[in-house]
Amino acid sequence: MTTVLVLQGPNLNLLGTREPEIYGYETLEEVHRGIAVRARELGLTVSFFQSNHEGALIDRLQVRDYDVAIVNAAGLTHTSVALRDALLAVQRPFIEVHLSDPSRREPFRQVNLLHDIALESIVGLGARGYHLALESIANRYGGRRA
Ligand code: DQA
Repeated sequence: MTTVLVLQGPNLNLLGTREPEIYGYETLEEVHRGIAVRARELGLTVSFFQSNHEGALIDRLQVRDYDVAIVNAAGLTHTSVALRDALLAVQRPFIEVHLSDPSRREPFRQVNLLHDIALESIVGLGARGYHLALESIANRYGGRRA
């Protein structure tokens, strides 16, 4: 069974109350519950990790106990050479997800250090983006063997 790590970056622990007009009213726990249900339907094994710390995110990636990752690096998307290096170093494909569409926001969000090394980027669709990422992973790598 394909194993998926959902990696969530800084401030995503505050989903639900953090700028909800941009990021939505669902909490991270609720978003993760929805992802877990969809993953089960697709026959994917999923685990979750959120941190506000760049090094903790890198350490988690380096565990390499997953086949593919879904990464919302949040603000680190626009700044972190170290996270980019880690994503390349671990040699695991990943799909980039953003709740909002950073390319349509402030100029500093238009710098994206992860986009060109991601399998694909799903942006601006809210929490549904994570579900589309799971579906793409199931299509590419297989979910449940029926
Ligand atoms: C975000 C977009 C980033 O620009 C921002 O820093 C975030 C969330 C998103 O999901 O829309 O924290 O990654």
